[in-house]
Amino acid sequence: MSEMKRLAAEKALEYVEDGMIVGVGTGSTVAYFIDGLARLKDRIKGTVSSSEQSTERLRSHGIEVMDLNATGPLSLYVDGADECDGNRRLIKGGGAALTREKIIAEASKTFVCIVDPSKQVGILGRFPLPVEVIPMARSLVAREIVRITGGQPVWRDDVVTDNGNWILDVHGLAITDPVGMERDLNQIPGVVSVGLFARRPADVVIVGGEPPVVL
Ligand code: 5RP
Repeated sequence: MSEMKRLAAEKALEYVEDGMIVGVGTGSTVAYFIDGLARLKDRIKGTVSSSEQSTERLRSHGIEVMDLNATGPLSLYVDGADECDGNRRLIKGGGAALTREKIIAEASKTFVCIVDPSKQVGILGRFPLPVEVIPMARSLVAREIVRITGGQPVWRDDVVTDNGNWILDVHGLAITDPVGMERDLNQIPGVVSVGLFARRPADVVIVGGEPPVVL
């Protein structure tokens, strides 16, 4: 699948225009995008990064990383996903970077999502849905998730997010109303963000292949 990821990332480079500040996601697919972006680094103004991991890779290529508060709205955001449905709605957060990813997606005019074909699903939920929580609210949020969704939350107990929070992965979901579930889970006190990108889906999905498919 890594070749499919690389092909999707290469196609996404076509969306980068001179003078842009590019929002950059997190993960193994995005790592290919960052490596490709290095070839264009003198043509862009800089980047906004969604994680410490991506920041480190960007800086290792000598690509400038900027603060979203200083840049204002972005033209382009490129990120991967764990699942994608036919309406470009996503599950994200397998790499625990969902909150900053969601912030950058919201700040961006065009969100280009890059995936390999295994990420495409009819109904979201086969991949456990990540939810970032404030640590003291972990059990409360888990109980509410069971009540609201019927899914089974599992604490990713070896992970602390870049924001100092914890992740619950919700198993056993078949998400027929992604916008409704995103809204309902967002309202639980202690939830920082939900890895459903349905209210603000991707604008473009590039599925890696020869040739890549643009949805
Ligand atoms: C990180 C993410 C990633 O985009 C998602 O996990 C996909 O990762 P990969 O490109 O390694 O398959 O949401 O929080």
